[in-house]
Amino acid sequence: MASPIRKILDLPNDSIKKTLFVALALCLVCSILVSAAAVMLKPLQDQNKALDKKKNILEIAGLMQEGKSIDELFSQIEPRIIDMTTGEYVTDVDVATYDQRKAANDPAQNIVLKAEDDIAGIKRRAKYTSVYLVKDGEKVKSIILPVHGYGLWSTLYGFLALESDAKTVVGLGFYEHAETPGLGGEVDNPGWRKKWVGKQVYNEAGDVVIRVIKGHVDSSTPNAESKVDGLSGATLTSRGVDNMLHYWLGKQGYTKYLNNIRKEGAM
Ligand SMILES: Cc1cc2nc3c(=O)[nH]c(=O)nc-3n(C[C@H](O)[C@H](O)[C@H](O)COP(=O)(O)O)c2cc1C
Repeated sequence: MASPIRKILDLPNDSIKKTLFVALALCLVCSILVSAAAVMLKPLQDQNKALDKKKNILEIAGLMQEGKSIDELFSQIEPRIIDMTTGEYVTDVDVATYDQRKAANDPAQNIVLKAEDDIAGIKRRAKYTSVYLVKDGEKVKSIILPVHGYGLWSTLYGFLALESDAKTVVGLGFYEHAETPGLGGEVDNPGWRKKWVGKQVYNEAGDVVIRVIKGHVDSSTPNAESKVDGLSGATLTSRGVDNMLHYWLGKQGYTKYLNNIRKEGAM
């Protein structure tokens, strides 16, 4: 006796039943292939994501070197986790697996920001944050801090690297955003990123003084060392970067941690 599938396949090619059957079978096969590929490639994607994050941290800290592997270069960096409320290191969380972005969306691990505090437009943030220390023996050479905030179209995610004085910029860069290429997307322009190197984010009194201004910084004006050129035609993204830094360097952000670093040195 012919199977039901055989019976359908034996129908003429222009029969509606056979056409629907072939279309459905094709959809089923394709969806199985796509799902299998997605599942099988997930570990590789996660691995590449982790490698990309390490590469970004190295680039922002100015530690990339030709001919050396990312893992080898990253071995000079010590990831740590801090409690944002106290600015102290936390030891009961696994640094290797802690996902700050996931934690920021988990009511058990986040705090919801009051509207008046939320200058970076992020709504909530994780209670614990990853930081990365570039060390020379026991001495901290630089501190790399994750930062994120809203630009014009998107939340920009990146890192700010500071020297061991916890106020001089080593680098600022973003690894994820959806600002317009050529406008807000110029945050990735190496020329603009270079302008950040050596800038002072705090004044002597400990106030956040870094500013992304509209236009060019005149080096003869007061506080030029704390001002960075805005992106032309992208004032809103520039303002987003400014707000983001004011949030993360401010009292809600890394102030306590950076004060601890200054007081206690390497920690
Ligand atoms: C299609 C389109 C994309 C834009 N993308 C951005 C952007 O990514 N970032 C930004 O700040 N402004 C962007 N703008 C411009 C803003 O709307 C706004 O005009 C600009 O930020 C003002 O900057 P300016 O004062 O330097 O001209 C875009 C405008 C258009 C029409």
